[in-house]
Parts: sequence; structure tokens; C-alpha cells
Amino acid sequence: MRSKVIFNLLMLLITVSGTNTDGSFSKQKILEVERKLQHLRKHSLKTIQSEDGDIIDCVDIKKQPAFDHPALKDHKIQMAPSYNSAKKDPIERTTRSKTKSSMMKQKDEESYMTVTSQIWQKNGSCPKGTIPIRRIRKRELLKACSIDEYGRKKPSFLNRQVNHRLNNNLDSFVQQQNHSKAIVFATGFRYLGGKGDIRVFSPSVEKDDEYSTAQVSLLNGSYNDYECIESGWAVNPSVYGDRKTRLFVYWTADGSHETGCFDLTCPGFIQTSNEIALGAAIYPIPTPGGLPYQITIYIYKDLITNNWWVQYGENTNIGYWPPEIFRAICYNAESVEWGGEVYSTTVGHTPHTKTQMGNGQFSRGNSASILRMRVHDNYPSLKIPEWVQYYSDEYNCYDFYYVSDYLEDPEFYYGGPGSNPMCP
Ligand SMILES: *[C@@H]1O[C@H](CO)[C@@H](O)[C@H](O)[C@H]1NC(C)=O
Ligand SMILES: *[C@@H]1O[C@H](CO)[C@@H](O)[C@H](O)[C@H]1NC(C)=O
Ligand SMILES: *[C@@H]1O[C@H](CO)[C@@H](O)[C@H](O)[C@H]1NC(C)=O
Repeated sequence: MRSKVIFNLLMLLITVSGTNTDGSFSKQKILEVERKLQHLRKHSLKTIQSEDGDIIDCVDIKKQPAFDHPALKDHKIQMAPSYNSAKKDPIERTTRSKTKSSMMKQKDEESYMTVTSQIWQKNGSCPKGTIPIRRIRKRELLKACSIDEYGRKKPSFLNRQVNHRLNNNLDSFVQQQNHSKAIVFATGFRYLGGKGDIRVFSPSVEKDDEYSTAQVSLLNGSYNDYECIESGWAVNPSVYGDRKTRLFVYWTADGSHETGCFDLTCPGFIQTSNEIALGAAIYPIPTPGGLPYQITIYIYKDLITNNWWVQYGENTNIGYWPPEIFRAICYNAESVEWGGEVYSTTVGHTPHTKTQMGNGQFSRGNSASILRMRVHDNYPSLKIPEWVQYYSDEYNCYDFYYVSDYLEDPEFYYGGPGSNPMCP
């Protein structure tokens, strides 16, 4: 009711003022936003106001956005994985503390706390049979440069250049794609799952159309047209309207050209959890010098239904990507990837973006890290990945350090400040 009045007022203002001089929005843009929201917002059975400003709508699980996907009209929702996914980890947590790298020693007995709570949960919960959906606000959509592009990534290309320290010859590649990554990836098997503990930070993101993420990804396909499913944390103002560190899932079936999006901002991902809201801020909020927090992400295939489940922490299954929305990755993935990504149109350019990756520090003991990396190939339990390779698109801007010698459980450190005297 009130929003309608405000909307009419806005329309009136804009009609009176004529067109969009700077600051105001054109009538057409507002109409587009209204149309998009009508599509995106589902009937809310309960609304929860979170103290961080988010609004959480509890939506009937059978009426969630995924079912607007033409391929999912007759999809039968799977409420839980076919089997208990708590597969045995080859290295118990207790032995991990005994196998510390030199980096870990610097940090001494520091331990990570795994977070799975979200701040909105303080103000209520979603009943069974519903799922919590973070409400997309008008102001977030109005900020998007194109309404149709809202929630999507720009196209990118798979780069499998391995372990180059000096990457001058890559400048043109990076310029072309606007994405800069520092990653480790496993190849050589048919993967049915990937897992990792990702430390959580709040990197600074320079411009509203840029983002910085850390994730576990499973991929299949070619350079330009690959399929990808991933989950981790993101600072992404163009999707979330602010610079908080948020939990995300993302998928594409074509290198982000036409398909895919973050969270539930387009039909695709099917959510089953009534506890976790995709796109909600990670809480407690990590502060510089504060307690180290991590999230645990585990993406794995249900061998009976072929759905790709996302598990958060050790127990919570958030939901899944159904095979209907993919071509090849519905069978298995060709690689599992861990690491950071920065998107900016000034990646590979001078001046380079100041958007940070990880916590803005180059790889070392207290930089961003991903630990307890695991894969699930045709073997029934999780394994430490063999055959890993690693690379950084712009080693002088964002680098990495993969520690595996003398270490039972390899560790991946990555990140960087972006623009600096070496990365002009
Ligand atoms: C949310 O819960 C907190 C803690 O219980 C309370 O202080 C706050 O007033 C609540 N906020 C809203 C908007 O209900
Ligand atoms: C990268 O950004 C530039 C603008 O700097 C743009 O012209 C180009 O199309 C972008 N490339 C991709 C692949 O999105
Ligand atoms: C993965 O992609 C490759 C080439 O893009 C394809 O040959 C292969 O069949 C795909 N894997 C599966 C399991 O479909």
C-alpha cells in the first residue's frame, strides 16, 4: 500500500520534472523495475525484518523462483539428499592441528570458527514448507545498469594457463574478460563433489559495478561456453546494494553469456532449507584483527537424482541445482576450483582497480586462505585432491601460495590489494 503511494509520487515527480536529469530515474526504468520485481517477488507467507536492514520473505517452497524455469515446470522437488552426505573425511580435524605448515605456525594455535548463523535469524524463523528469500529492493534494482543483467555475471572465459609467475603475455586476455582470479584447481578425474573451508573477510570493493568473491566451483566444458556451479562469499554491491560479505550460490550453463545468476535472482537453483537465506550477510561480521571465521562449502552430486546439492557447514543442505538446467555437468565435472575472483572493467588496465581480493593482502600466513580442500570423484569418500594446478591472472595484483610439501593436508593462500606500484 505505502510502496504504491511512494511509487505514484515518484512517477509524478518524474513526470513533472520531465526526464531524468542526474539523480532521478526515467519513467521507463521505474516501469522496468516494477515489472522485474513482479516477476521476482513471490507471495510472502511471513516477513522477517532483520536488524541489518534485510527483509526476509518466507515463501511457499513450491512457489519459489526456480519453478518459473521452463525446464522445471514438472520437476518434483527433492526435500533431502538420497543418502547421508556426511562422508568420512580422510583427515580428522584433530590430526590437522598436528600437521601445521610454517604458515600455520606463525599463527600459532589459532583456530577458525565455522559460521553458519545469519543475523536475520535473531528476528524470527521461516515455518516448515517455506524457504527464506532475501527480498530484492527497488533501490538495488534501480542501481543496476541494466535490469535484465541484474543478478548475473558478465561473460568470462576459462583460462587454464598453469603456474606462471610472470604473466605479461596474459594482459590482453585479462583485459578482454575483466575477471581476475587466483585459484587452485583439480583436474584429471570425473568429479562428483568439491569441498573447502573458506576464511571470511570484507575486502574493499572500489566501484559499485565491481565485486570480490571467494568460492568453491565445479566446472565442465570449453573455454567460452563452460558450465559452472559455485558457492562461497561475495562482496557485490551491484547485486546486494551494499558492501557486506554475503553467502552466495551462482551457476551458469554457458560461460555466463545467457544463463545463470546469483542466488535466487533467476529461476534455476532449488532451495530446500528453511533456515539459510541465500544472499544474507555472514554473521558474525569479520573485522580486521578480529576472530577468524570461516564457512564450509560442500557441493556434491546426488547419484540417484543427479541433483547437485550445496551443503553449508557440516549439516545444512541449502538446496540444489537440478540436472534439467545443464547439459554436460549433469553427469560430472571436469574440474574443481578453489580461490578468489575480482570483477572490474579496469582489471588488466592502468590504472588498475583498487578492489581487493581476499583480505587485500598478498598470500602469506594471515592472508585469505582455503583449507581442508576435498574432492569427491568416483570413490565413495572425500579425498584430498591429487593433480592440482594453480594460477593467477595478474600475479602482481593478486597472488597465491599453495602449500603442500611436508603437509598432509594442503593449504591455499591467495589475495592481494589490486592496484599497487607493481600493478599499475
Ligand atoms: C530483532 O531482534 C533483536 C534481538 O532480539 C531486537 O533487538 C531487534 O529490535 C529486532 N529487530 C526487529 C526489526 O524486530
Ligand atoms: C570488459 O570491459 C570493457 C569495458 O572496459 C567492455 O567494453 C568489454 O565488453 C568487457 N568485456 C567483457 C567480456 O565483458
Ligand atoms: C565436459 O565437457 C567436455 C568438453 O567440453 C565434454 O567432452 C565432456 O563430455 C563433458 N563431460 C561430461 C561428463 O559430459
